[in-house]
Amino acid sequence: MHLATRVQSISPSPTLAISARAKALKAAGEAVLSMAAGEPDFPTPEPIRQACVRALEAGHTGYAPSAGVPELRQAVRERYRTELGLAYGDDQVVVSCGAKQCLYNAMQSLLEPGDRAVVQAPYWVSYPAQIRLAGAEPVLLPFEDDRFGLNGDALEAACGARTRLVILNSPCNPTGSVLEDEDLDRVAGLAREHDLVVICDDIYDKLVYDVPRPPHILLRHPDLADRTLVVNGVSKAYSMTGWRLGYAVGPAELIAAMRKLQDQSTSNATTFVQHAACAALACPPSVVESMRAEFARRRERIVPRLDALPGVRCARPAGTFYAFASFEGWIGRELAGRAVESTLQLAGMLLEDRRVAVVPGEAFGAPGYLRFSFACSTEVIDEAMDRMEALAAGLSER
Ligand SMILES: Cc1ncc(COP(=O)(O)O)c(C=O)c1O
Repeated sequence: MHLATRVQSISPSPTLAISARAKALKAAGEAVLSMAAGEPDFPTPEPIRQACVRALEAGHTGYAPSAGVPELRQAVRERYRTELGLAYGDDQVVVSCGAKQCLYNAMQSLLEPGDRAVVQAPYWVSYPAQIRLAGAEPVLLPFEDDRFGLNGDALEAACGARTRLVILNSPCNPTGSVLEDEDLDRVAGLAREHDLVVICDDIYDKLVYDVPRPPHILLRHPDLADRTLVVNGVSKAYSMTGWRLGYAVGPAELIAAMRKLQDQSTSNATTFVQHAACAALACPPSVVESMRAEFARRRERIVPRLDALPGVRCARPAGTFYAFASFEGWIGRELAGRAVESTLQLAGMLLEDRRVAVVPGEAFGAPGYLRFSFACSTEVIDEAMDRMEALAAGLSER
């Protein structure tokens, strides 16, 4: 069968592949410690589940406007009026099947073959794939140190006639880092100068630990609203990954293009889920806070132990539920009689030999690192760290 070149230009998501392998081992009765998945381990909060049941019973089971039900579009506008001080019109909002679909629709709407789109490494796995699917070329900015900030000089060098957009992901998956004011100011200046669209993937913005909220480019530079798309959703903050609900706000022209694509592809996000999402956005802050506080406790549990492993460095993530640790000190050494050649291979050894599932940095454009999700119980964290310490004790020179 002939398959289109565009699908041959991408690979299956490595994070989903490792999670699937870990699940298969678990199903076969193995005691796998899963630290690979990118999803909270809490049940979706009760008031949201109840709102979904009410929506089903009220008969919200038919097609909805493909841009989203009016109540949810209104709730999203209200969120950004309060949080960013921006009055988005109803034609500036779209609701999709996850933040992932918002991002996909945005790439399809903005990029053409020969265009370039800029992504800071380490990056979420789907950005380069989505850019390639739009026929464009991802320009991946190398990172400088474990602050994992924006490499402003590399961004400046990447700005050319065909450079259309830059994606900001703060807090960042996989590093947990949060962009600082000076990073955002540099992006703002370059976006104005080189006519770039800025895409803010804010999906982890409620999960920050050291500041009440992460800095936002539109709070510092509201004049950029006419060239900025803000993408968010309910997956991470409300533990609703499987519900598939995301949304975006931005310039009306771009939103109209994204709505048109959705009209002709998936139509609306699941109607009764949209009603549940209204309940999520209306939840008192305590609902998210209880989950955030638990993640904060787990961060304290895992990061010092990773950082104390010989040959390992782990910076404290400012947000998300990921610890991104450098295992460069293990490369070239020997573990249980085998040479450690890469973190890709090390992640395979951890899963097959020690039953600890983590994602290798190679997936995120950062060879030498491993991503540990702490969206799991403290028992899993403690046991995984015990196994890592036992493993580290067996490290030897070649
Ligand atoms: C950085 C980032 N953006 C977007 C998404 C997609 O979120 P959603 O579940 O809303 O599609 C994820 C999910 O892993 C993510 O990590």
